[in-house]
Amino acid sequence: MGLSACDAQAERWRKVSVLPMHIVPDSVLRERAKRVSNISPSIQKLIDDMIETMRDSHGVGLAANQVGVLQRVIVIQLPDDEEPRVFINPELIKQEGERDVEEGCLSIPGYRGLVKRSVKVKAKGLDRKGKAVRVNADELLAQALEHEIDHLNGTLYIDRLVDRTKLWKEEAEEAPQNQEEREETPVEAQYTG
Ligand code: NI
Repeated sequence: MGLSACDAQAERWRKVSVLPMHIVPDSVLRERAKRVSNISPSIQKLIDDMIETMRDSHGVGLAANQVGVLQRVIVIQLPDDEEPRVFINPELIKQEGERDVEEGCLSIPGYRGLVKRSVKVKAKGLDRKGKAVRVNADELLAQALEHEIDHLNGTLYIDRLVDRTKLWKEEAEEAPQNQEEREETPVEAQYTG
């Protein structure tokens, strides 16, 4: 008994893989990802693998560049989300206000920094079925959308540090200069993506 070619292909697509994380200074992190023109089975597989990779790394978000793929796909799962959010060709259409927030990046392991982000954003894109979606976001979701869409444009959070001293090693024994600010941020609201 054998699988038909079609079943075999479907079987292969159901298998989800944790993909290797690309870390700095990998040049793929500095390139601009291309728009997805066809939401093909290989894009669906990429999405599934990205979700698995994000969860495996305990990240809140992940962009395709981070797994070495230059396609405009991001995935986000906030601590309270039951399902991951998928955005294909996401775009920020409005960014309002300014705040300093702590974040980390799965592609810059072991470090965290204090960065400038918007208070509120509006974004649009496609879901994994190709349906147009719009989202009004604040707090962690706004930060996630900005961080991940930045990745698609080859931008990293270290480009947006409040100042150069506001980058520290995660397990630093010495308190960073912004210790007070850090203590104001509850752990569940801290971003890594
Ligand atoms: Ni990141």
